[in-house]
Amino acid sequence: MASQLIQLQKRSMALAGVVMTAYLIVHMLSNLSFFWPDTFTKFYDWYNGGVISWLVLLLMTIAVFIHVKAAIRIRKANAQARAVDYAKHDKFKIPALFVTLSIIFLLTFIVVHVIQTVLFDNTELYNELIQLFQSEIMVLFYLAGLFVLMMHLQHSLANVLQTLGKTSLTCHSLVWAGVMILIGGFALIPVYIYMAMS
Ligand code: HEM
Repeated sequence: MASQLIQLQKRSMALAGVVMTAYLIVHMLSNLSFFWPDTFTKFYDWYNGGVISWLVLLLMTIAVFIHVKAAIRIRKANAQARAVDYAKHDKFKIPALFVTLSIIFLLTFIVVHVIQTVLFDNTELYNELIQLFQSEIMVLFYLAGLFVLMMHLQHSLANVLQTLGKTSLTCHSLVWAGVMILIGGFALIPVYIYMAMS
């Protein structure tokens, strides 16, 4: 019974992860239209014109909530089932505290980012982004958030591949390349604005 519940948690965690990853791909691609200001403005005028952006925000909030809640439950169940603590026999394991802190930082990054974008003047989105990334602190904060997101995606997708029995180097290299393209696409905007537009 307990193991069935854990399986259910794992499935809902994976499903929420898939929804968030799909959002991230679309979000990164729509952000890249920043390099074509007319397209960027047209897209975000449409996106913010009705309820779509609020529905997307609601969907993402639910997905993050399900994902985090399931992760906490799975972690607790694993800790209870484990007879010998990893730290005592595996000195290369990343410390659990470090993993927890990085996840807290990632969640903080997402909350800060959403608050910042909700406070943006939607009719001036293009200029709002330019304004935001004039600040070195903001550029560093976003790059740090993207770095932690990269580590998290890389690690969790490697686990998913392992669960699916896909252990080949090709599969892992493809996932690694996909994550790098996603994160690189996001990072281009703060870096470009800071280097070329300030
Ligand atoms: C440098 C990277 C990023 C830039 C330039 C950026 C830009 C934006 C902009 C302009 C908006 C507001 C869109 C609107 O007015 O409707 C937005 C919203 C949002 N972003 Fe990002 N974003 C970045 C990275 C991320 C990352 C890494 C995540 C998640 C881990 C994320 C999650 C969200 C969410 C949940 C929203 C609110 C929902 C929405 O309006 O789509 N963003 N972002």
